[in-house]
Amino acid sequence: MNTKILLLDTIDEAGVDIIRSFATLVDGRGYSYATLMGEIEKYDALVIKSGNRIDRALIERAVKLKVIGRAGAGFDNIDMDAATERGVKVVLSPDGNVNAVAEYVLCMSLLLSHKLEQAHAGSRSNDFRRHTWQGRNLDQLTVGLVGLGKIGVGVARKLGPMCRKLLGFDPYAKDLAGLRGSRLTLFSDLDTMLGHCDIVSLHVPLTAETRHLFNRDRFNAMKHGSILINTARGGVVEQNDLLKAFADGRIASAALDTLDPDPNYSASGMETTYSHFLVHHPRVFYTPHIAAGTSDALREVAVSMANDMRKHLVVSHAPDLDLSPAI
Ligand SMILES: NC(=O)c1ccc[n+]([C@@H]2O[C@H](COP(=O)([O-])OP(=O)(O)OC[C@H]3O[C@@H](n4cnc5c(N)ncnc54)[C@H](O)[C@@H]3O)[C@@H](O)[C@H]2O)c1
Repeated sequence: MNTKILLLDTIDEAGVDIIRSFATLVDGRGYSYATLMGEIEKYDALVIKSGNRIDRALIERAVKLKVIGRAGAGFDNIDMDAATERGVKVVLSPDGNVNAVAEYVLCMSLLLSHKLEQAHAGSRSNDFRRHTWQGRNLDQLTVGLVGLGKIGVGVARKLGPMCRKLLGFDPYAKDLAGLRGSRLTLFSDLDTMLGHCDIVSLHVPLTAETRHLFNRDRFNAMKHGSILINTARGGVVEQNDLLKAFADGRIASAALDTLDPDPNYSASGMETTYSHFLVHHPRVFYTPHIAAGTSDALREVAVSMANDMRKHLVVSHAPDLDLSPAI
């Protein structure tokens, strides 16, 4: 097969099978930046995930590169200007993880509003004073969603029926048809919305505009004792301001699936080179970017991305493949 594709991160085998049906797949997982720079000119396409950074220098060196397949959503780790200039198509698989992330947000909303994590942590250190962990019913709380794209809308559909009120802010929203039946009230001013919310969940991409969107000013606009859920990107939150918001009680607790910087997810089980002040913070429930990491979502994402790569590299009108038995 003439088409050569370099795999830079692990994807579900169902996607690997599809890629192998039309191309030679070379395993480049673990390549250093220097090795990748030396090898990249041989490949027609790359398969990456959020942990791989594809910068301008790499794209300019990759003379044969036609497609970058990004298993998942978000392209802040790819130099999109360089890719566009070179005519390199970036193939995302944005829909496959919507339900997984939406379920994660639902789960965190319940976990933190019921103070289950604090009660669990307290009990583990022999503190059984249950009155200390008096939570709230989600059905009495107002939830605000920042960003109403695929995931924001998916979250609205799951959370809408379970909370007291659902509010949303997205000045650039393209398609809100999926919100029908979710009872969501749209706000045109973010700070006004934040003043009504008990729980705020972030679903914006990381851009120059959204970097540190959640800073001291946003936290000051929030209700005292709010819950923050961030499955977007760590950089959307100004993390030192979050520390202060914990200290002054503005934020009661936060579920953070991503930090700035994120750890190296492939390091050994006893990682010693990464430390982040929020991972061990008592008001933080941290998870290492697993919101979209269910096996169901990983499979769906890999199959969708591999089929799209096949369409761009080989056969534009072919029906989609799914070569592995369903899990
Ligand atoms: N934690 C995970 O596992 C995980 C998985 C998938 C996606 N994500 C993150 O979630 C983000 C959202 O994913 P998506 O698929 O819904 O993307 P999307 O592009 O469908 O939606 C993003 C929405 O954000 C809105 N937006 C942009 N700037 C805004 C601003 N300043 N204020 C309010 N809204 C704004 C856009 O109009 C758009 O509707 C991704 O960019 C990615 O960073 C995380």
